[in-house]
Amino acid sequence: MTPMRSVSVGALRGHISVPGDKSISHRALILGALAVGETSISNLLRGDDVLRTLSAVRALGARVTDGGDGTTRVSGVGVGGFAEPDDVLDLGNSGTGSRLLIGAMATQPINAQLTGDASLRSRPMARVMAPLEQMGARFIAREGGRLPITVIGATDALPLEYTLPVPSAQVKSAVLLAGLNAPGETTVIEPARTRDHTELMLRAFGGTVKVEDTNRGVRAITVAGQPELTGCAVFVPGDPSSAAFPAVAALIVPGSEVTIAGVGVNPLRTGLYDTLAEMGADISFTNRRTEAGEEVADLVLRAGELKGVDVPANRAPSMIDEYPILAVAASCARGRTRMLGLSELRVKESDRLAAIAHGLAACGVKVRVEGDDLTVEGTGRPPAGGATVTTHDDHRIAMAFLVLGLAANDGVAIDDGTMIATSFPAFAGLMQKIGAQIS
Ligand code: S3P
Repeated sequence: MTPMRSVSVGALRGHISVPGDKSISHRALILGALAVGETSISNLLRGDDVLRTLSAVRALGARVTDGGDGTTRVSGVGVGGFAEPDDVLDLGNSGTGSRLLIGAMATQPINAQLTGDASLRSRPMARVMAPLEQMGARFIAREGGRLPITVIGATDALPLEYTLPVPSAQVKSAVLLAGLNAPGETTVIEPARTRDHTELMLRAFGGTVKVEDTNRGVRAITVAGQPELTGCAVFVPGDPSSAAFPAVAALIVPGSEVTIAGVGVNPLRTGLYDTLAEMGADISFTNRRTEAGEEVADLVLRAGELKGVDVPANRAPSMIDEYPILAVAASCARGRTRMLGLSELRVKESDRLAAIAHGLAACGVKVRVEGDDLTVEGTGRPPAGGATVTTHDDHRIAMAFLVLGLAANDGVAIDDGTMIATSFPAFAGLMQKIGAQIS
């Protein structure tokens, strides 16, 4: 346990960049492992989640080395070339690593066992097993479709057309990755659009990906099976989900002005920033560019008054990891913020809906959960704070409440900051660099 604490010491100022995007980092390692030849990854996130995926792809036969120039080099085994790992793959806390790898392994003739930490072992895996079984894979899982799971990969994989029952980029990606080693075409139909990093990166590796949009927002993504993927250079932009923490800190600590350089601004990831703009936040995206197929910008944030807004349910997929920090911003805004349709928050690294509500209430904020909706009543004045918030081993709950402590009257303590290392090991140091007191 690493208890941590943050207090307000005045305006935050400076120019920082945040570590590489977690979603893109996992995908770069997995696609690099499935490609022929060498993939060179710049700015790979060196957080525990991604390092677990790195070890797993090594165990599946890929060679991963440090390029010595800040890059990570992956020599892949080719589509269908995974070796059977000779030990259990431990994915730690990583939902993305475990679900994407289950997909990539499901259509290869290998057996593999996967496990993870207590949080990951409690998370639902049936959502990936169900479509993958239709492609010929078999699984032995614990009660409720939980890890540890044995994957018995299909020897004669079948392609699939699958409509996602939940808006999940992890499930979509698991099926698309499985489709790579099935003959013919595999299609995922998503009724609500989710992050498309797998699709964008597959094209960069030479895969064939067709995307058809209908006017009702439904998107059908088709991959051609058994392509020859070729290793390539991947540049990982700064993670907008990590940038969210210093960004909201800059907006809620009076007098602050912070620039965060090189942040990924893929429109399927920027729901938080759209919402903050609606709340009246002073945010500008400058120096917009495209790097290795992903949109990137520098974010400039200045503190000011925020007002409560309604956040529609259909925005959730584009900001699913950002509700803890949005709720913190809402607690410093004037008026009511209603965040609708948050059922998926209950199955993240913790039950985030409950964790946000308990933490805010402990800090003196009026907050309600009704069904899958969260309502935060802001007074336009800083919350009292002064509490020790229970993080439930959840990195984003930990960081969100440390940010709240920078604006709250009496600071905020958290019971444990250990899990911050899963996604943002440099969090405390970077926050200190812009003037925050986090210890
Ligand atoms: C991710 C998708 C989201 C997100 C997670 C990363 C990804 O999960 O919460 O942190 O990289 O595909 P779901 O697909 O379960 O919504």
